[in-house]
Amino acid sequence: MGSMLDTQQLAVLLKERRGDRGLRDIAQEIGNVSPATLSRIENGKMLDVETFLRLCDWLEVNPQHFIKEAQRDMLNSQALRYRIEGGQRLEGSVVVQGAKNAALPIIAASLLVSKGQTILRNVPLIRDVYAAIELARSLGVKMTLHEEDQVLVVDASNLNVSTLAERLTSSFRASVLFLAPVLQRVGNVAIETVGGCSLGKRSLDFHYRGFARLGATVSEQGENIDVSREGPLQGNYLYLDTPSHTGTENLMVAACMAQGTTIIENAALEPEIADVANFLNLMGARISGIGTGVLQIEGVSELSGVEYTIMPDRIDAGTFAMLAAATQGDIELIGAQLRHFGVARAKLEQMGVELQQEGPVIRVRRPSTLRPINITTWPYPGFATDLQPQMMALACCASGTSYIRETVFNKRFAAAQELNRMGAQIGLDGEAAVVKGPTAFVGATVEALDLRAGMALVLAGAVAEGETIIENASMIERGCSAVIRRFTQLGLTISEEREKTGVLL
Ligand code: EPU
Repeated sequence: MGSMLDTQQLAVLLKERRGDRGLRDIAQEIGNVSPATLSRIENGKMLDVETFLRLCDWLEVNPQHFIKEAQRDMLNSQALRYRIEGGQRLEGSVVVQGAKNAALPIIAASLLVSKGQTILRNVPLIRDVYAAIELARSLGVKMTLHEEDQVLVVDASNLNVSTLAERLTSSFRASVLFLAPVLQRVGNVAIETVGGCSLGKRSLDFHYRGFARLGATVSEQGENIDVSREGPLQGNYLYLDTPSHTGTENLMVAACMAQGTTIIENAALEPEIADVANFLNLMGARISGIGTGVLQIEGVSELSGVEYTIMPDRIDAGTFAMLAAATQGDIELIGAQLRHFGVARAKLEQMGVELQQEGPVIRVRRPSTLRPINITTWPYPGFATDLQPQMMALACCASGTSYIRETVFNKRFAAAQELNRMGAQIGLDGEAAVVKGPTAFVGATVEALDLRAGMALVLAGAVAEGETIIENASMIERGCSAVIRRFTQLGLTISEEREKTGVLL
């Protein structure tokens, strides 16, 4: 577990101690520090070690007091609420996390390896990943997470449990990705409830129909679903009515060790699917057509442990890009790739946002007024539904009326009512949202109703006048890593209150 400086606490104490006195006076007392630096510290920004130690001296507080654990144990505590003081232009650089929606299927797929260890790098430290690790452990898999290095070592040699524990599956949607590897390894798998963000109807019929076409028996009793196989799975022609993201991944993983050839027609095109397929091929699978809508998989009898680096998170990158745009900032996204953005890139550029790929870094600036936009969410390379709520918040900052259509999920406008509490003018009509801008956001107490809706509120909070309190902040931790540290580094004044959960998740 790493340590970091609690800049928020330092800021609070400095403000308290100086009271009404001017920063110039205080700077003179401390010595070798400018009033401007003190002002930055009061805004929760990072500072150099020397200034920090002198400040501790002046405050008469042991420096150790401000050192906190970088990644507090997310299994035993959760963020209750975030407090954001808005109105600053955000600038600097931020390291884009490993992709949540690649890490989760890759962690699950690593359970296919029956001998030896798999090393995963760039694993995002988010609640859903911690939940996936716990789920794997509950099946008998040895999982060693090196948090500081964001490395996860998986040894699934002793995987021997076939029931996916309800207390864990009910907390995250990607638990459904454990079906294929456990079915392959143990011969049967049972699951009850699958959790995740509440975005409306989220069926799993493509997954189960696909397993059945590969020769498995799928039986349903109330909430319980049992999938079993007699002998090896048999390759077959599979199709998806719509290109389901996890549906494609589950069937691709199931087909890797099936006998013969499997074709998956109308497969999802998201870059994360290609990342999972490349990981599987490195382990010895034979998947072709990667990056296209038709995957062909030749079954193999064994897969072996490998070392693999998870791709950067395009949704995380897109969110920070929108944050730069909303605050008229200038942010470098370290490790992000514009080619993963799909239509989101064009839409941001139409709004007047400048995106420049400089090697492995994207620089984002918003030099002038934001123009309004029309977007329709669509499977990749269409505009990502996972960026829609954040785009809704950004559209509020544009001068004019924007139109947003959500076609992937039937209830993904939770952000609208909360943004309206902050002064937005968003009207909803079925799958369409009409956003009238520009909004002068005003801080309010709002609730993160799902992960991305929560991110939209962070964005609005960053530009709002006054304090925004985001309740139910643990939703955000499900998919966004090191929230306080990364946003603080960009100059956002944000702090959190946590509560001990006492029990796992
Ligand atoms: N669908 C079906 N039947 C199925 C599967 C899907 O009707 O068997 C429908 C769903 O009801 C939904 C649509 O197809 O309306 C899209 O669902 P999809 O299966 O593609 O979504 P998912 O695999 O459950 C993943 C991501 C989501 C992301 C979507 C769309 C993971 C763990 N989750 O969900 O991520 O929104 O793809 O890209 O990969 C998030 O990260 O915030 C998030 C919600």
